[in-house]
Formats: sequence, C-alpha cells, structure tokens
Amino acid sequence: MDYDVTDKGLAGKGKLRIEWARSSMPVLSMIEDRFEKEKPLKGVKIAACLHVTTETANLMIALKAGGAEVRLCASNPLSTQDDVAASLAVNDEISVFARHGVDSDGYYKHIRSALAFSPAVTMDDGADLVFTIHSEMPELVSSVVCGTEETTTGVIRLRSMAREGALKYPIIAVNDAMTKHFFDNRYGTGQSTLDGVLRATNMLLAGSKVVISGYGWCGRGLASRAKGLGANVIVTEVDPLKALEAVMDGFSVLPMSEAAKVGDLFITVTGNKSVIRSEHFEAMKDGAIVANSGHFNVEIDIDKLEVMKTGKRTVRENVEEYTIGKGKKVFLLGEGRLINLSAAEGHPASVMDMSFANQSLCIEHLIGLNPKPEPGVYPVPEDIDLKVADLKLNALGVGIDELTEDQRIYLDSWKMGT
Ligand code: ADE
Repeated sequence: MDYDVTDKGLAGKGKLRIEWARSSMPVLSMIEDRFEKEKPLKGVKIAACLHVTTETANLMIALKAGGAEVRLCASNPLSTQDDVAASLAVNDEISVFARHGVDSDGYYKHIRSALAFSPAVTMDDGADLVFTIHSEMPELVSSVVCGTEETTTGVIRLRSMAREGALKYPIIAVNDAMTKHFFDNRYGTGQSTLDGVLRATNMLLAGSKVVISGYGWCGRGLASRAKGLGANVIVTEVDPLKALEAVMDGFSVLPMSEAAKVGDLFITVTGNKSVIRSEHFEAMKDGAIVANSGHFNVEIDIDKLEVMKTGKRTVRENVEEYTIGKGKKVFLLGEGRLINLSAAEGHPASVMDMSFANQSLCIEHLIGLNPKPEPGVYPVPEDIDLKVADLKLNALGVGIDELTEDQRIYLDSWKMGT
C-alpha cells in the first residue's frame, strides 16, 4: 500500500482523536454500519481531496466499509492533521498522501499520487482533483464516472468549467444541500474561524471591532458568533442584497476603505481575490490583525504586504508580524490560509456529520445510477437532503410534528381563502 505521511509514530494519537470525532457523528456512523452490511461501493475506486481531519478520517473509514478502495490527499497544505494521516495509513490501511506544511510542489505531487490509481469517483473540496485531471491528466477522464464537490469555491469553479463546456463528467454539488451549507458553512465556519483566531492570538473579542468581509452563509455565521462574544461587527460586501441583510441583522456595513481605518481584527470569507489590498494595509491601525477563512489564500493581497514591509518576524505560532513604513505593525494569521483549519481543527464533528453523510449518500446514489448523467454540475437529490435532516434530528433526540390529513388537504387546495 502506497502512502506518504509525516510520522507513522503519531498513529496512536490519531486513532484516539478519530474515535472522539466519531462519537459526535451519529448519522455518518449509521451509514457506515449499513455500508458494512450492504457493500454498495464494492470495488469502487474513490480519490478524495479533502482537509485531512478527524472528521474526514471517519468519512474515509465509512467509504471503505462500503467496499470502496480509497485514496486521500489534502485539499490545503496547512490543514493536514499529521496524526490523523498516520492513523489512516497505519490503522485503516488507507492510502493517504498528506503532510502538514508541504510546499506547493509537494501538494500537487500528493494530488497526482491520489489520482494515480485511475479513480472512478473524485471527491473534492475546492475542485483541485477535477482541475488536475482536466488540465494535466486528461487520460484519466475516460475512467472517471462521477464526482462530488464539498465547498462553495469548488462549486463556483465547476460551474464555470461546465459553462465553457470543459467539464467532462457529472458532479454533485454537495455544498448546495441545505443540510450542508445551512449548518456547516454557517455554524461550522462561524465557530471554527473564531476558534482559529483565538488559538492563534488569545485576543479578547469583547469590545473589539471585527471587520468581516463577505456576508454569505459563512460570513453570516461568523458575524453572529463574533457578536455573541461581544465584538462590534462591521461587514463589508459587494452584493447590495447581502449588505442590506447585514444592516437589518444589526451590523454596521462600510466600504473596506472606511472599515480598514477602524478595525482591530479583519476576517475575509468572500471566495474572491484581493479583498484586502495595499491601500487597506496603509489605512489600518497599528496592531491590526488580518486573517482569512475563505477556501484559497487569495483574499488578502500578501504579495503586496511583502512588498510594503520594512520588517517581518514570526511572533507566535501562526502569527506573522509585518512592519509597514515607520513602525506600524500588522499581524497576518496562518499565512492567509483558512484560519479555522490552519490554527484550529476545522468545523466540529457534529456539523461535519451532516456534510459527510451527504457525501457518502451522494456517492452511493451516483454509483447506482444507470445510465450515468451527462457531464455537468447537479444538485443533491432532495430525498437525500431530507433524509440527512431526519437522521440528524433523530440522533439529537428531537421530535417534530406531522401534518394532519386536514392540513395536508388545506395546503394542497387553492380554493380555501379567508
Ligand atoms: N472543512 C471545514 N472543517 C472541516 C473538518 N473538520 N473536516 C474536513 N473538512 C472541513
């Protein structure tokens, strides 16, 4: 079995942490138990490019229980948890290609290794497998049957490929399931981003001015969590509807040129590039802290910061101090990579439970389809989404009402008014 991990000696620690996460993933565990019996993925080769965390480990174990042959590489060079990678390789005999902190060459080498067994299914978080297959390894297209995509940024990338007719196989946008983005993007990113910022800095949020760029599902969750910890939240947006929503949710909304002058902490979650640029660094207060929680490290213009700096040093783990001009300090967290995974452990297992239940059920669904759908980006089937919600409520011990027959007839009828 082929793999590349940092230290196999960490496997014991990784196993315990994977078990700990599993205890908060009841829906995925139920699916795993059924997969174990039914083997719906027997012999299916799955290449996965995901953050190598305890939650992802449980997904890989569930897919393997279903009969799949799995290879895993990282979807970000800083998110890999080395003990988890070691445990998957040593205890579960899963081919993992992931080392925390690899450089760009190492990162893409791992992606190519994960693809080298000609997978039938790709499972992406950011579309790097799809991109590598289409741009560098087109000979693999003929053996790929289908894929899934975990995150907003990846779905945007895939839709752009599909629009140009470049996408060569069908992919389900798992991100777009309600049981994914309502919870993972909002509560997962909201909590884990602040967890990353606090682990990196130990700063006090109460009374501080926190500038959040982007008021999508992640931004909304983050703003509400920062407010809950006593921060004065300022939102920056380019979308008038989202900006209006932020206003009515009770937040200040400012252009970045104004927000830059007052913020103590800046967090980008837009999915776009160069959201914080040189003119904003110029305007910032001494001691401003800057972090990103969007998928790629493009939201903060670090290249410009590098040009502007008169000094730079690492002052704490995950905190780089940049000196600008005559001595103003700006602190960059986690190299501008997703702070929730570079300085913390990513979203809690309880929320990843739903995201990864969707992943496993979508793969089972796609593999079972005959004929296969045309190339394109497809939504998660509604029955899968509802099933995940139902199973999660059950696992949480929450009961809900059922429509009475009378109510059902009323909702179906257009004849009954006042
Ligand atoms: N994305 C965000 N948090 C994650 C986690 N804990 N595991 C895998 N992917 C993630």
